[in-house]
Amino acid sequence: MVEGNKTKQGITRRKFTLGVMIASIAGSFVSLFSLLKVVTPPEKAGYVSTIKPGDQLVYAKGSNAGNPVKASDMKDGDWVLAYPKGKTANPANIVQLIKLKESDYVAPTKINLTDQGFVSYSAICTHLGCTVSWVKNPSNPDASFTECFCHNSMFDPTKGAKVIGGPAPIPLAQIGIKVQGDSIYFTSDFTGPIGPQV
Ligand code: FES
Repeated sequence: MVEGNKTKQGITRRKFTLGVMIASIAGSFVSLFSLLKVVTPPEKAGYVSTIKPGDQLVYAKGSNAGNPVKASDMKDGDWVLAYPKGKTANPANIVQLIKLKESDYVAPTKINLTDQGFVSYSAICTHLGCTVSWVKNPSNPDASFTECFCHNSMFDPTKGAKVIGGPAPIPLAQIGIKVQGDSIYFTSDFTGPIGPQV
């Protein structure tokens, strides 16, 4: 009988020890998870594009806002801000559409994502997220460039929107486009991250 009680007590002690060990391991996981949450940078919320291949470009601003961009309206050195049709509520979707000479584009521009001299990049500055603008060179339209007037970052549209001045840390991501008739459609996702990268 005494022997039976000892066995029972032994089992109870082992169960208790096992319970403590499991609780301790679980606690370690919770602590590790909390630590990871602290050291992992927050997601760049709000800059998740919903553009899909096949979406049509529409004007983002002005009296034509929401209407399809017409390829025939743009000549060398022209630039517009555009959204994918029906997806204008997502600020991450805003792009710049630029028309230059086809021969102006060199690497790292993805030439296969351009069409008939049109190229498109994200219009959200990679510094702190302002919408970029266009500095047109009236005497030499092909020397025009993108600038963000918040802190004067500049990007070269003929060279994959690489940073040519200012604090922006990385180029503006390119996105594929295709001219069909007089309309323009997206053909790919962005080639890199969009939005602030600092
Ligand atoms: S947000 Fe564009 S340069 Fe700072």
